[in-house]
Amino acid sequence: MTMSKLRVQSFAVSLDGYAAGPDQDLQNPLGVRGPELMEWFFPTRVLQKMYGQGEGETGVDNAMAEQGFVNIGAWILGRNMFGPVRGPWPDYQWKGWWGANPPYHVPVFVLTHHARPPLEMEGGTVFHFVTEGIEAALDQARAAARGKDVRIGGGAATIRQYLRAGLLDEIHLAISPILLGQGEPLLEGIDLPALGYRVKEHVSTEAAMHLVVGR
Ligand SMILES: NC(=O)c1ccc[n+]([C@@H]2O[C@H](COP(=O)([O-])OP(=O)(O)OC[C@H]3O[C@@H](n4cnc5c(N)ncnc54)[C@H](OP(=O)(O)O)[C@@H]3O)[C@@H](O)[C@H]2O)c1
Repeated sequence: MTMSKLRVQSFAVSLDGYAAGPDQDLQNPLGVRGPELMEWFFPTRVLQKMYGQGEGETGVDNAMAEQGFVNIGAWILGRNMFGPVRGPWPDYQWKGWWGANPPYHVPVFVLTHHARPPLEMEGGTVFHFVTEGIEAALDQARAAARGKDVRIGGGAATIRQYLRAGLLDEIHLAISPILLGQGEPLLEGIDLPALGYRVKEHVSTEAAMHLVVGR
């Protein structure tokens, strides 16, 4: 029997290690200059099909992005990745960045300190808001995934907690050839070798260096 894995996929970082630029808000979901992190991802067939803008490119960047959707039964996100609302929810108007039919199509568990009822979207996505911490979110996600893998979408603060707890099995990082200088650091202060991680695969394209880190 293969165990369900906890995976990070297609997670972009700048050369200087940032997963988002500074000053995230409604106008800058990825922080200022954050979209530059995703330049490898925008032209791919995976993304173009998702948002219906054309055929998109195939090739290594696309193949890496595609893997991120194989055998995923549930997702975990941090509240900042879900949206720009901070502090107590003023109301329940905010329903994520992704429109009425988000690209998840499975249960999604959002880590937050601020409770909120589950939110059912079109296409099979249901957002569940988890206030009991990373292990509770993982237990709930694993149960929902019914033997499939659980993908952590991000952001950095969420991945850092799962790394430190030694709960992540595999991380696909796309290092983008840009310097952000500031923002949300992914690996700063985390001793990955001491936690048992090593680089298992890497391949470079014009747009990114893809690495798979695991144990
Ligand atoms: N580079 C990429 O490929 C990529 C991928 C995805 C997202 N992003 C970007 O990353 C940024 C978000 O990352 P981030 O590091 O700022 O934040 P994040 O991990 O998305 O969310 C952090 C927030 O989630 C809640 N949270 C996290 N852990 C919790 C816990 N154990 N218990 C309760 N609540 C918890 C807290 O919110 P509250 O206290 O407010 O509830 C916390 O402030 C966004 O700009 C997003 O666009 C980048």
